[in-house]
Amino acid sequence: MADAVAVWAVVVAAGSGERLGAEHPKAFVAFGEDPLIASSVAALDDHPAIDGIVLVVPEGWEERATFMADDIGAGKASIAVAGGATRSDSVAAGVAEVPADAAIILVHDAARPLVPADLIDRVLGGFADGADGVIPVLPIDDTVKRIDAAGRVVETLDRAELRAVQTPQAFLADGFRRAVAAPDRASGTDCASLVERAGGTIATVAGDPRTLKITTRADLERAEELRRAD
Ligand code: C5P
Repeated sequence: MADAVAVWAVVVAAGSGERLGAEHPKAFVAFGEDPLIASSVAALDDHPAIDGIVLVVPEGWEERATFMADDIGAGKASIAVAGGATRSDSVAAGVAEVPADAAIILVHDAARPLVPADLIDRVLGGFADGADGVIPVLPIDDTVKRIDAAGRVVETLDRAELRAVQTPQAFLADGFRRAVAAPDRASGTDCASLVERAGGTIATVAGDPRTLKITTRADLERAEELRRAD
């Protein structure tokens, strides 16, 4: 389905990344020889199904973002805009820049630098059976419990029914634009939850352990190792 239609990617990179303890915003810390954001942008730019890429960066970093895209030869990433206070605000700022003819919008966290092409294939190929969106997921290895405000266990969840969610996440553009415009969007911690809240159907495909999210220095080191092993 996705091959025949216009697909635009929005890379959200406007977080501060405080837990990384770096002086730059997280997306601009070094990852190999380039800023972290360059790795996922290069992967999306290389993918034949992606027609264009919008970069959403901290205010004041827009020019550096387009310079970075030029520098790595990512010709599809020509638009950079400032993000907002929450991830959802940043997604909305990026979606506003996506051309009206895009049929599918794919949103990716710059904090996940390693994006194998076959992961993008699976996500874009997962729109069977009338799904409004497709997300990559992984099984959960740890036992997960719900606790109360005092830290006491309320419930042990059935691990077999739970999945950890990654990006890129892809959505039919029209419904996604409406979901992102919802006044309560700030509380959504991923894009799919906005579409779920609007009554949309989300399909899942297999994620990839290499597409881990960088939060701490140790994550950055682990991703560097995985990149070198590739
Ligand atoms: O904070 P967290 O790591 O969950 O953020 C996930 C992604 O969302 C990161 O790539 C980050 O840059 C982005 N983000 C954003 N705008 C915000 C907060 C996070 O673009 N206000």
